Amino acid sequence: MTKKNTETTDPARRDFLGTFTMAVAGGGVAAACVPFVSSMNPSSDVLERATVEIDLSGIPMGQEKTFPWQGKPVFVVHRTSAEIAEMGASPGGKEPVPDSQRVQKPEWLVVIGVCTHLGCVPNKTAQGWLCPCHGSVYDNSGRIISGPAPQNLHLPPYHFVSNDKILIGKSS
Ligand code: FES
Repeated sequence: MTKKNTETTDPARRDFLGTFTMAVAGGGVAAACVPFVSSMNPSSDVLERATVEIDLSGIPMGQEKTFPWQGKPVFVVHRTSAEIAEMGASPGGKEPVPDSQRVQKPEWLVVIGVCTHLGCVPNKTAQGWLCPCHGSVYDNSGRIISGPAPQNLHLPPYHFVSNDKILIGKSS
């Protein structure tokens, strides 16, 4: 009785089997990676928090409201005509910049409420803000006037989606 040869001796067939095996193994590794890779994508609630829509109609003139955005407070101030005139006439303090370059509409100031010294949250005053940690003073344009803070309060990206709504987190 002759023994049946089960080995693959045809080089073309052997190459095909080798390629096929590697393709299946590669596909398996790729499939196994999918859950890990997709777990690295930001979750939908994180993406949602990347932008915050604010209804400005709930902020009376002369008042400020604070909104959380990406883990930071954002101050939205409905400025009075006197504050707008005063800020328009002032060049700012340690980091001078015209008020007009810090607002999209004069009556609405939108700034990140984090002191540029060491990151405390400043408190609103009639003249602007006072940082409780080391006494930095900001005006009603969020510009640094005095104290150890080196820069004006930063501006978040935002745009008006309608007359009385802004979207923070996207500049257009
Ligand atoms: S953290 Fe605001 S003055 Fe130091």
